[in-house]
Amino acid sequence: MAKRILTGDRPTGPLHLGHYVGSLQNRVRLQHEYDTYLLIADLQALTDNFEHPEHLNENVLQVAMDYLAVGIDPDKVKIVVQSMVPELAELTIYFMNLVTVATLERNPTVKEEIRQHRFGRAVPVGFWSYPISQASDIAIFKAELVPVGEDQLPMIEQTREIVRRFNSLYSEVLVEPKALLGAVARLPGTDGGAKMSKSLGNCVYLSDPPETVRKRVMSMYTDPTRIHPTDPGHVEGNPVFAYHDAFNDDRAEVEELKERYRAGRVGDVEVKQRLCAALERFLAPIRERRAHHLSNPVRVREIVLEGTRQGRAVAQATMAEVRAAMKLDYKFG
Ligand code: TRP
Repeated sequence: MAKRILTGDRPTGPLHLGHYVGSLQNRVRLQHEYDTYLLIADLQALTDNFEHPEHLNENVLQVAMDYLAVGIDPDKVKIVVQSMVPELAELTIYFMNLVTVATLERNPTVKEEIRQHRFGRAVPVGFWSYPISQASDIAIFKAELVPVGEDQLPMIEQTREIVRRFNSLYSEVLVEPKALLGAVARLPGTDGGAKMSKSLGNCVYLSDPPETVRKRVMSMYTDPTRIHPTDPGHVEGNPVFAYHDAFNDDRAEVEELKERYRAGRVGDVEVKQRLCAALERFLAPIRERRAHHLSNPVRVREIVLEGTRQGRAVAQATMAEVRAAMKLDYKFG
């Protein structure tokens, strides 16, 4: 049996270039090698959007479109809607016994999100405990590999702990997953911030039209110490070059631009124009595939329904084993 991949995204908006280098690229690369499940994590998104669930509803099919647009093969990969697999809720309840408050409170990603939301002690329990639900996502599929961005590493570690605890307490049913990081550990935002984030407005979306991409790139932060194009510039820590490194397929051009930048022989405008061209080479086929799928939304719905059906079957099989291991498989009547 082929090894499994499970990973996913919250349907809170369109996916961006950071998602691509962090995880999507690996999914596309490995989709024919691994039995792959992509979870549209609407229940996880609900934990900080429960006052506006309609935002998620609109985005579920958009995320599916993004997957197909980057080249996910719907004949191979199962796209699964989280809330349509109620077995996940059941496993989460069992897993809650295997995690302590102290461990949850140490999760650096959740800590940072609680700070950003200014939740303080008023953090909803659902949000605070979403790493347990994410552990269920991964464990129910018995995934061996989880392609994710760096910020998700604490979730994978939490999953590994829960799986070890489950297997040693009950029996060896679950699989300890490994994280797979993307080629670029962290793509900065166009404002030079640590990462792309919808709320900061510093993203380039995979679905952006050429004009929007151009505007974003031309207004990108570069080397703040450089005032004239003849000043020697810094390449390291310069977001424009981070994007060149991540997306420009013309490596010789990137090396040449870096050399000229360091020597003060090229202006920011030219470096950005060449980045625009490179991003267009990357985005054009993605746009083409999106247009193709947009013209057939019924087919996209079918893909998601069929993926969810197959994903749920896997979840149900795992839960039968989980219940037996936990002596919860009562045979009354
Ligand atoms: N937490 C992930 C994110 O915010 C989404 C997610 C939900 C996920 N369940 C998952 C990722 C399981 C990997 C595996 O992007």
